[in-house]
This record gives sequence, structure tokens and C-alpha cells, in this order.
Amino acid sequence: MQVQSTLRSINSYLAKGEQAARDIMREVNGANVVAWQLDLADTKSICQFFYFAAEKELHYLINNAGVAICPYAMTVDGYELQFGVNHLGHFFLTFLLLDLLKHSAPSRVINVSSAVHIMGKIQFDDLSGEKDYHPVRAYAQSKLANILFTRELAKRTEALGVTAYSVDPGMVNTDITRHIRRPLVGLFKAFGFMLKNPAEGAYTTIYCTVTPENQLFTGGYYRSTCRAGQDDSTALKLWAVSCHLLGIRWR
Ligand SMILES: NC(=O)c1ccc[n+]([C@@H]2O[C@H](COP(=O)([O-])OP(=O)(O)OC[C@H]3O[C@@H](n4cnc5c(N)ncnc54)[C@H](OP(=O)(O)O)[C@@H]3O)[C@@H](O)[C@H]2O)c1
Repeated sequence: MQVQSTLRSINSYLAKGEQAARDIMREVNGANVVAWQLDLADTKSICQFFYFAAEKELHYLINNAGVAICPYAMTVDGYELQFGVNHLGHFFLTFLLLDLLKHSAPSRVINVSSAVHIMGKIQFDDLSGEKDYHPVRAYAQSKLANILFTRELAKRTEALGVTAYSVDPGMVNTDITRHIRRPLVGLFKAFGFMLKNPAEGAYTTIYCTVTPENQLFTGGYYRSTCRAGQDDSTALKLWAVSCHLLGIRWR
């Protein structure tokens, strides 16, 4: 049984975050971005992150990190890795940051889930996955947990000025496939032309971050359509063909 080590987040992981911070500051005038170390597979690391970050205000918490479809492994605290990182890690981080979010209200929590959640079921009698582990089922369970967490959080915090949303980014060409067996990854990448790039994949999350609150439903689940569903020229052609088939003029 593999245990996710806190070492994962030391040096190279932080260096990656620092590089991303530099890239954003180079591209966005006036941006001030700081990278902090955080291992969501380790509650001690989450506490350290909370104490070191010590921000005075927090208006948007985007719980985006995730691990997908990996072989059985456990977090440092002894939970199945996907449930532990994707749900419990973010749940604990949000819990620690809630006073700051309330103090900073209006504020929002955005949890990045996945369409795969429809295959999920919360196995309350086997949350550690020890009885019957299947990588896809465990991922689906963790992503369903993101949505259920969002709904319950929204109910508890709306009156306090903290709203919550869950999103599905769609199919995005990222490193999410790192644990998936090669033939399946090949299939995923072969359809690369249908995948969103990471910037496109961030769209729904950003939508939930910047759209005025009164135009969103707190506790709701948001997803954007695939590339084919965003093709305006096909939309126009379909409109014309439909009118032609029905013998109507609709300008
Ligand atoms: N890509 C898709 O098609 C897709 C579809 C639906 C939903 N999603 C969701 O989108 C979110 C982002 O995934 P992605 O596609 O961008 O995949 P990704 O490229 O693999 O990014 C996942 C991120 O999570 C971080 N992470 C993993 N374990 C962590 C831990 N223990 N502590 C802290 N950070 C950790 C990774 O950090 P390191 O790189 O430092 O390990 C990485 O930055 C995930 O929640 C995923 O479930 C993705």
C-alpha cells in the first residue's frame, strides 16, 4: 500500500508554483501573486499553509487541485487518496478559512468537480476503499463529494455572505491522466482536438468567480458545453437547415 508522502510538495512542487506566479506577474499588469506550499494529502501541511499564508482578506477560494483514477494509495492521515485529497483536503482547508471568508464577505467558494460524478456513490461503509477499491469509482465518489459539500456549505453560509458553487471544467488536456493506464491515455490524447486547452478549461471556474452573485445560484453546479457545442458556424448552419426542413422563414 502506497502512502502519499509530504515530500511530494517540497522543492520541485513549490518551484512549479513559484514559476506560475512569476508567469502571471509578467503577463498581468499590477498582479501580486505568492506561491505557498500545500499538500492536501496531509492535514498537518494544510494547517501549516493556513498559519503561514495568514492573509487579511479572502474573497475567492477556488478548490481546484485533484488526483484522478490512481492505484490504491492512502493520504498521510490514512484516508483513501482520491477521497482524501479531492474531498477531505479541500473540506478541511475550507473549514480553516471560513472565518476569513465570513470576515471578507461577500466571498465565494468554488469547488472543481467533474461530470464523472454521475457515476459516483458515497460509500459510507467503506470510505477508506479497503473493501472494494476501483480507481474510477473512487474518483467519481470524490467528485460527487465536491458537489454535495458545495450544496451543504451554501445552505450553511449564504446568510453570512459566503456563497458556494461547484463546476465541471469539461474535458481538458492537462496532466490529470498521469495515473491512467497507457492505452486509455492514448485514447484520451487521440481525441486531443476535442479537448479544451487549460485556459479554456478554466472558463467555467472563472465564470463562477466573476459573474455577479445575483446571476448565480449558490450551491449550484455549473458546466460549459464541449467544443462542438460552442461552434457558432455550425449553429448557424443547423438553424438554416432546420428552417429549410420545416419550410419556414425565421430570420
Ligand atoms: N482535465 C480534465 O479533463 C478534468 C475534467 C473534469 C474535472 N477535472 C478536475 O479539474 C481539477 C484540476 O485538474 P487538472 O485537469 O488541471 O489536472 P492536473 O494537471 O493533474 O492538476 C492537478 C493539480 O492538483 C495538484 N495536486 C494533486 N495532488 C495534490 C495534493 N496532495 N496537494 C496539493 N495539490 C495537489 C497538482 O499539483 P502537482 O502538479 O504539484 O502535483 C496539480 O497542480 C481537478 O479537481 C480535476 O478533478 C479535470
